[in-house]
Amino acid sequence: MFFRTLTRLDFLHACLVVDVSEREDNKQNVLPVGHVGVELVMDVFECIAARRSVRDYDARRIPRDVVEKILDAAVCAPSAMHVLPWKFIIMEDQEKLKDLDARVKKAYGLLGKAISVAFLKGKTVFHNAPLVILIVCEKSGQWFREDSALAAENAFLAARALGVGSCFIGMAHRLNDKEEDLQAAGVPKGHKIFAALAFGYPRSEWPKGEKRSPKIVSWT
Ligand SMILES: Cc1cc2nc3c(=O)[nH]c(=O)nc-3n(C[C@H](O)[C@H](O)[C@H](O)COP(=O)(O)O)c2cc1C
Repeated sequence: MFFRTLTRLDFLHACLVVDVSEREDNKQNVLPVGHVGVELVMDVFECIAARRSVRDYDARRIPRDVVEKILDAAVCAPSAMHVLPWKFIIMEDQEKLKDLDARVKKAYGLLGKAISVAFLKGKTVFHNAPLVILIVCEKSGQWFREDSALAAENAFLAARALGVGSCFIGMAHRLNDKEEDLQAAGVPKGHKIFAALAFGYPRSEWPKGEKRSPKIVSWT
C-alpha cells in the first residue's frame, strides 16, 4: 500500500487523496491517478471556480505523467465535426522559451517594451513558467480557434485538479506573424499556433479572483 506525503499545496487546494493504484476498476487506467499513484478528487464545480490564471511559478518541473494527464484531458474536448485537429508542442527548455519570449516582444515593438516593464515586470511573456504547451493545428481549419480554446480550458481544469497553475498566453500568437518565428517554436510547416499555455506550480497562494455572476440577457 502506498501512502503519499501531503504537501502544503495539497491542503490549499483541498484535494482528497486516495490510493487507487491497486483498484480493480483502474486496470485500464481510467481513473485520474496522480503522478504518485494517487487519485486527486476535486469536485468539478470547485475545480472550475478555483481555476484562475497563475502568473508566478516556482521552478519545479512538472512530472511527465502529470503533463500526460493534462494532455489527455485536452483531447477530450469537443471538436467541430470531430476533426480533433490538435497537435502539441511541449516546451520545458528555458533557453528556448527565452528565445521565443524575445521574438514575441520584438513583434510587439515599442509596446513589447512597455508590456515587459509594466505588466511582465521583467519576466518572459510566459511568466517564466517551467512548462509551455503550444496547441498547433493546420492553418486552414474553420473551427480550429474554437477547438483549441476548448482543449485549452480542459487542460487548465485538469491542471488545476492536479495542483498545477496555468495561464493562457495570447501574446505568444504573435509568433504566427513570421515563418521564422514559427520555425523557432518548432511548429510544423503549414501549421500555426492556436493556443499557447503556460503551466507551473504556483510560487505562493492560488489567486482567488472575484465571484462572478452571469449576465443573463433573456431566459424565455
Ligand atoms: C484569449 C486569451 C488570451 C490571453 N492572453 C494572456 C496573455 O498574453 N498573458 C497573460 O498573462 N494572460 C493572458 N490571458 C489570461 C487573462 O488575462 C485571464 O484569463 C483573465 O484576466 C481572467 O482571469 P482568470 O483567468 O484568473 O479568471 C489570456 C486569456 C485569454 C482567454
